Amino acid sequence: MGRFENVTALALPVAGAVVADLGCGPGRLTRALLGAEGGAPAVVHAVDVAATLDDDLLLDARVRAHIADLDRPLPLPDASLDAAASINVLEHLRDPAAHLDDVGRLLRPGGRFVLAHSDWDTALFSSVDDRLTRTLIDQWVAHSPGAGARVDGFAGRKLLRYADASGLDVESVHSWADPHRRFDVGSVAWKVATGVLAAASADTALSARAAGWVDELRHLADAGRFLFTVTDVAVVLRKDPTS
Ligand SMILES: C[S@@+](CC[C@H](N)C(=O)[O-])C[C@H]1O[C@@H](n2cnc3c(N)ncnc32)[C@H](O)[C@@H]1O
Repeated sequence: MGRFENVTALALPVAGAVVADLGCGPGRLTRALLGAEGGAPAVVHAVDVAATLDDDLLLDARVRAHIADLDRPLPLPDASLDAAASINVLEHLRDPAAHLDDVGRLLRPGGRFVLAHSDWDTALFSSVDDRLTRTLIDQWVAHSPGAGARVDGFAGRKLLRYADASGLDVESVHSWADPHRRFDVGSVAWKVATGVLAAASADTALSARAAGWVDELRHLADAGRFLFTVTDVAVVLRKDPTS
């Protein structure tokens, strides 16, 4: 199982539920929720600030697409969701605590919110030069231009801090690291390496070494010796059933 299936398994209460994928992007979690064996939801509210959702999901009658800002109260009624989930979204928000309050408003009593985030500092790349890999990852998590000013390389390990300050109860905590063996253009590992390159670009000497590092990753992938992983953390929050 990958991260979207893991979050689906944690989020879905019962078949026929009304759920939300918050910060849905192209809709990989939405797709996993809809495909949940034996427990598929009746409705998935797919919310993002941009028009990112894949076309086939826009055409699915079970999907309600919303272009909305998670830094504001969402245009959904109180207690209208059985469950909600988000993956790699919290670091982009101006006020994560206010967002968690709003999710609490949207959940019905007993409803669940799966808050999931990668902890980018734990990124693991197959490496020929371990010291250079460490330097590049450190530079990336400290400084990631183009990824947004609020991107946080340590977001995964901070989830419990946000959860603890929310009005929701922490039901369980999970973590995993999906293995990625591909390094072709568009793959997950390639996207992360692109971010690493961008972060190194302010330092001319490091930037040249980073370009060589990416070439090396390509060679490792061609030889079948490439691996990328990052630790994901997921906190399952529950609204008080008696509220
Ligand atoms: C790293 S992507 C994750 C997408 C998706 N959850 C996934 O894991 O594939 C972050 C997503 O959050 C969305 N996002 C960022 N800030 C947002 C905001 N204030 N309100 C709604 N969506 C936001 C972005 O548009 C983007 O689609």
